[in-house]
Amino acid sequence: MVEKREVEDPLGWARDHTPILRLFADKYGEERPFEGYKIAVASHLEAKTGILIETLNKAGAHVLFAPSEPKSTHGDVVEELDKSDGIEAFAWEGMTDEEFEEAQHSLLEERPDFILDDGCELIAKAHSDHPEVARDVIGGGEQTTAGVTRLEAMEDEDVLKFPVYAVNHTPMKHFFDNVHGTGESSLTNIAITTNTMLSGKTVIVAGYGFCGRGIARKARGMGAQTVVTEIDPRKALEAHMDGHRIMGMDEAAEIGDYFITATGNRDVIRRRHFKRMKDGAILANSGHFDVEIVVEDLEDLAEEITTPKEGITRYHLEDGTKLNLLAEGRLVNLTGPYSQGHPAEVMDTTFAMMFMAAYDIIARDRGLEPGVYSVPDRLDREVAERKIETLDTSIDSPTESQNEYLKDWKHKESSF
Ligand code: NAI
Repeated sequence: MVEKREVEDPLGWARDHTPILRLFADKYGEERPFEGYKIAVASHLEAKTGILIETLNKAGAHVLFAPSEPKSTHGDVVEELDKSDGIEAFAWEGMTDEEFEEAQHSLLEERPDFILDDGCELIAKAHSDHPEVARDVIGGGEQTTAGVTRLEAMEDEDVLKFPVYAVNHTPMKHFFDNVHGTGESSLTNIAITTNTMLSGKTVIVAGYGFCGRGIARKARGMGAQTVVTEIDPRKALEAHMDGHRIMGMDEAAEIGDYFITATGNRDVIRRRHFKRMKDGAILANSGHFDVEIVVEDLEDLAEEITTPKEGITRYHLEDGTKLNLLAEGRLVNLTGPYSQGHPAEVMDTTFAMMFMAAYDIIARDRGLEPGVYSVPDRLDREVAERKIETLDTSIDSPTESQNEYLKDWKHKESSF
């Protein structure tokens, strides 16, 4: 009889499902473009991030890594990575908020040459507390919407000391990771944590950007009635035309069974909304920071706070209404007890873009001025091509006459 083996290593499954990074490990493992460079990675420390770290290391980098969120670290992944030469951990599972801050500072004291960030925490700290490090850093890449917004604010204030690629804004990132990754992983984690059914329920999605669009679309696909709240009239109209109901949060608060925030903004669901909600409403946040649902207001309104199930905090209000907050209002797809973040296939493209950001800025050898830059389209295209390659299929190439036609504004040969 065949003997059943224990799980190989905590990165094995993610490695199987990240084929672009596997291709990069082979290709750049020979080229070793990062030889002699220290690359810092701040991200949610679970298996997929582990594969990015491993790939950077194979491409020659000495990698220093820290969490971008204290509660999303998987200890087994950190231990596995820490065994490798040229990879240094500034993380462990169960860190307090203070330990998280200290770990990021300790990492920066090691003077990285390049920073791959998630939420701009590490880059912001380098600028506010380690100016000598920020001065010498060659460049960075940022993978979140919230992080790019912070970087743009730094650029506006003229404090940014090195060039950073806005990886979040590339098509290969936000059309897939934000829309499909956040959509699927948020709903999966809400369903698993609560063991309840979305089908037939009313789901309120706050924000109809890339993430909100994915959440609303997939919730409807599961049979929910979807409502979108927005502050941008064009996004609201887009939601309307996509078939969702639109209304203000005051009105939505009264009818929602589930509330999911994905705005990148603060105080989206607050005291006045909690007071209108139905008994048993479930609240979850998918935005980067834990400020979208005002937990302090919930605490203030509650007569009693209980934990009916792991990952759920129940607030018993004075009038008998019970409101259920998931993952303490932190990113529900990354910090809940069952959370595993985005599916591996989608992180494969995001991390391939982060890898490309480091590759391109380092290859330019300090040729870029400080600032926030769009990632060159050719890199985005290259990752898309690699992705299609891994799907074992191909797409068409334009013919010569098609290329000419597209460039010819006179359309000489057209007949009307
Ligand atoms: P986005 O900028 O495309 O969309 C945000 C939308 O929220 C905009 O349409 C904006 O008008 C709307 N909004 C702002 N304030 C609002 C309010 N008070 N009420 C209703 N709508 C409001 O941003 P994207 O890419 O959708 O990201 C949203 C958040 O999700 C960010 O914090 C981002 O960092 C985070 N994110 C989370 C991920 C996860 O794994 N959970 C993955 C990717 C991004």
